[in-house]
Amino acid sequence: MSEIAELKLAGQTIELPVVIGTENEKGVDVSNLRAKTGYITLDNGYMNTGACTSAITFIDGEKGILRYRGIPIEVLAERSTFLEVAYLLIEGKLPTQAELDYFTNRVRRHTMIHEDIKRFYDGFPRDAHPMAILASVVSSLSTFYQHDDQRSEDEQFSLNAVRLLAKLPTIAAYAYKKSIGQPLMYPQNHMSYCENFLHMMFSTPAEHYEVDPVMTETLNLLLILHADHEQNCSTSTVRMVSSSKASLFAAITAGICALWGPRHGGANEEVIDMLTQMRNEGGGVKKYIDMAKDKNSNFKLMGFGHRVYKNFDPRAKIIKAACDKLLARMKISDPLLDIAKELEEAALKDPYFVERKLYPNVDFYSGIIYKAMGIPTVAFTVMFALGRLPGWIAHSKEYSKEPGNKINRPRQIYIGEPQSEYVSVDKRK
Ligand code: ACO
Repeated sequence: MSEIAELKLAGQTIELPVVIGTENEKGVDVSNLRAKTGYITLDNGYMNTGACTSAITFIDGEKGILRYRGIPIEVLAERSTFLEVAYLLIEGKLPTQAELDYFTNRVRRHTMIHEDIKRFYDGFPRDAHPMAILASVVSSLSTFYQHDDQRSEDEQFSLNAVRLLAKLPTIAAYAYKKSIGQPLMYPQNHMSYCENFLHMMFSTPAEHYEVDPVMTETLNLLLILHADHEQNCSTSTVRMVSSSKASLFAAITAGICALWGPRHGGANEEVIDMLTQMRNEGGGVKKYIDMAKDKNSNFKLMGFGHRVYKNFDPRAKIIKAACDKLLARMKISDPLLDIAKELEEAALKDPYFVERKLYPNVDFYSGIIYKAMGIPTVAFTVMFALGRLPGWIAHSKEYSKEPGNKINRPRQIYIGEPQSEYVSVDKRK
């Protein structure tokens, strides 16, 4: 028998159905609450609010579990490729070899961007933040690929999804090349997704550049780990924008903008800034731990804490191991990594962090890996966006396929002035 919640409110008892997920997650369905009582629910920061049901990603933050379409992240990290994971997220199942080949080739054939887009890069200031460039150029794709009435909605969505997956690395690499004054390198479609991105970032027409297979492997891993994370801020933004039936390009642009903030994807950049500050100022990790604990200071340990994980972020565990491996294989010794390890160890023993279940998150080690790869700090969040793109696409698709889907339109409790007089300007005080 299905579970029912009872709510006593305004002199009546309301029955609210309980929705139970496949992993026994439970939610009280309040969709009829306002119609029945005139009340709404209020949940600042959506700490208890499920915005939708979803079949894409499962997270158990208490146990540190993350699965895409049911498959544990640890298995995908070890055995899959980023494009296969993209297919899994978007299409809902692992591809057969033929499906994977078709999808991979399709993505390969769309890597170039329109030559006119290249000219946009000349208009941005040299020091423009690459996330701003990424958002602007992705938004501009709507002007090059307008809706084609010959195609069904599904075909249009699938083509635009392929265009985005194929072009985002090119757009990102061009932003970097522009910032350092080097020529933009065309994609090489015989290369794998990650190889091609590294080629566009680091090769020049003047010299032969061999893509390091260790870097390709590590990048593949990082992109897989970032590929989806259910209803986070940027993904919820993508679903919200998709709900207005704006184009996929518009929804992904909004996702990129949401990801940019330091409380979300921007944290990986801030981790490196924090570790660099610790190295330059000295004084030991305890000084910074004390600052993070001090409620009078605004300082937080960047790369620590997570809205959902109240246990080790499973991605952080995998990234930490990959980080050690990459630095050892590339023979890099990075003092920031030493500080990071010392900080992690000290924070994990500190009662403040233990009590609040604050563990290192995915951003804590990813920045060190990107730094070792030669990716500039300012572009770290762009790397996150490259990884998160399939998740955003999958959520936009899932939303659009939901029967009877509605525009997302939260309500509010108004706490402003009651009805007031309009006072003419000469009488205002
Ligand atoms: N350093 C010090 N104290 C912290 C930290 C931190 N990094 N994170 C949380 N806390 C403290 C809070 O001050 C609060 O303390 P209180 O209970 O005494 O008031 C308590 O822990 C709970 O934290 P909240 O901010 O309420 O948790 P919330 O779920 O709202 O925030 C967030 C999560 C934004 C990630 C937060 O932990 C944070 O700002 N971390 C640093 C930024 C970061 O690394 N962001 C990346 C997130 S992962 C991602 O987007 C991929």
